[in-house]
Amino acid sequence: MPNTPDTPVYVTDALIAEDIDAYLAGHEKKSLLRFITCGSVDDGKSTLIGRLLYDSKMIFEDQLAALEADSKRVGTQGQEIDFALLVDGLAAEREQGITIDVAYRFFTTEKRKFIVADTPGHEQYTRNMVTGASTADLAVILIDARKGVLTQTRRHSFLAHLIGIKHIVLAVNKMDLVGYDKSVFDRITLAYRAFASEIGITNFTAIPISGFKGDNITALSGNTPWFKGPALIEHLENVEIGAAADEAKPFRLPVQWVNRPNLDFRGFSGQLASGKVRPGDAVRILPSGKTTNVERIVTLDGDLDEAVAGQSVTLTLADEVDCSRGDVIAAADAPPEAADQFEATLVWMADEAMIAGRAYWLKLATQSVSATIQPPKYEINVNTLDHLAAKTLELNGIGVVELSTDKPITFEAYGDNRTLGGFILIDKLTNATVAAGMLHFSLRRAQNVHWQATDIDRDMRANLKNQRPALLWFTGLSGSGKSTIANLVEKKLHRMNRHSFLLDGDNVRHGLNRDLGFTEADRIENIRRVGEVAKLMSDAGLIVITAFISPFRAEREMVRGMLPEGEFIEVFIDTPLAEAERRDVKGLYKKARAGQLKNFTGIDSPYEAPEHPEIRIDTTAMTPEEAADLIIDRLLG
Ligand code: ADX
Repeated sequence: MPNTPDTPVYVTDALIAEDIDAYLAGHEKKSLLRFITCGSVDDGKSTLIGRLLYDSKMIFEDQLAALEADSKRVGTQGQEIDFALLVDGLAAEREQGITIDVAYRFFTTEKRKFIVADTPGHEQYTRNMVTGASTADLAVILIDARKGVLTQTRRHSFLAHLIGIKHIVLAVNKMDLVGYDKSVFDRITLAYRAFASEIGITNFTAIPISGFKGDNITALSGNTPWFKGPALIEHLENVEIGAAADEAKPFRLPVQWVNRPNLDFRGFSGQLASGKVRPGDAVRILPSGKTTNVERIVTLDGDLDEAVAGQSVTLTLADEVDCSRGDVIAAADAPPEAADQFEATLVWMADEAMIAGRAYWLKLATQSVSATIQPPKYEINVNTLDHLAAKTLELNGIGVVELSTDKPITFEAYGDNRTLGGFILIDKLTNATVAAGMLHFSLRRAQNVHWQATDIDRDMRANLKNQRPALLWFTGLSGSGKSTIANLVEKKLHRMNRHSFLLDGDNVRHGLNRDLGFTEADRIENIRRVGEVAKLMSDAGLIVITAFISPFRAEREMVRGMLPEGEFIEVFIDTPLAEAERRDVKGLYKKARAGQLKNFTGIDSPYEAPEHPEIRIDTTAMTPEEAADLIIDRLLG
């Protein structure tokens, strides 16, 4: 049986029984500390969490005993089991096999409420740790006193620091198993300090504990007379968190929505990311840069004289300025920067590797833009912290990249402001979150290259040619008939006095794109360049026809997004693989089947057929001539 802690438990049942309202009110006012525990079962992490829950009376003695019995069993077998699930009887969760997800546990003491994110320690669970850590104020890094600072200790510390957790607790556990020896504790603390300063952790609190025996958890233990405190819970209760530091920073409110219940009221709602605001304050709306003053701070409980970081409010403004979701209302004299090119750290969280050049949705605070990533400048080995050359990032990979967005975003460095510096990337087709990122700084490259307004615009050029520009984007397998039909279409247009230009895959690959091959990354770059050229040509007023396999939906959609609505016409040359292979006009399928040609579309490289093309041509049902007529009809009709 484990020892019963001899310190009094914190939640007073008497008060719950006597005056439930007072009890609940007391809870409401308490501050909330979110923290994360890092370590593996072997380090005693689950026992520690059980101990915290037990000492704050959130679980009972027999459950703790069961937990510790299991902890021992697993300790000897060296397996990873999520004990928190055992503890509170969430057997259902366990049956569903949810062992890699982050488990959040709630407990409370007289002074504070706590949410602890229990994340698995193994390297393959890096993404879970990042998820759990993203909202945490504090990280408890667990060390087994018998083992000292390990590779995983370094990895956890690096990630905690990367995510911007300001408070680190080094919990040197299992002190009972080393005879509560001060020199063991000192040695580990010293070794950790050396490592911590290397990665930029300047401050941490080391506490010798025994989760099993309860030493230095709620109160200082007689077994470590040499340790002057604080005990773990005492530290968790008193550590100064978030709000105060964030309030001192300049005011920023990312606008979540515009509140317009009637014509007389127009308010801008959101949560203060930092700083404070009062009625009358001069503010600047970004990215437009317009300035005005705050009129009222409205909440459900009435107007406020002041709102501070973390509060959700609705502001009304003195002037009718343009402001919508995604804009940031900021202190007029200390606005954040807006930029469209950045350096950032990415933690890759998807099973599919990062694809350089592909456009992903980037969400930062309430802003949502399209972003493309360059190949990593380097990848970071989370165990050794070495910088490695890398072409991409795989699941759990961490790297430093440059990225560019299609419009400027209002941001701050992640180190200064987690809300305006932290972002996620979302796959545009599957909607899955593929990465978490932290902005470092903007690249000033494009900043001094302004868009040059020219006097002759695209409409004037097109009018002179007496036509409307368009981009006929052919897509289909190699040998499907793209070039043949595209060529016929251009001939017919020419006869009709239309000004056109045909960009053909095989030809462009001899010139502009002769440095590109057929890897996924090269094909994406191929299409990106062709898209840019096609856009310039359509700006010139031409009817542009492109004939490229363009196997990926994401890049075709990217080009569609570059052109004015309605100008991009996707023409799917729908020839089944078997038919294209039967025709094999260039003999390439034969080579690919023989293994002499790698990454051949349809054979060992994917083709993503359009789901809703503007025009679909079934080449098994009509001649090239008929197909060309049909396309011209749809274009000019
Ligand atoms: S794309 O995938 O990047 O859009 P693109 O249309 O430019 O391809 O080039 C395809 C042409 O290159 C094919 O019609 C074929 O003649 C030739 N080719 C050579 N190797 C390959 C390959 N591995 N996969 C597909 N096409 C190839």
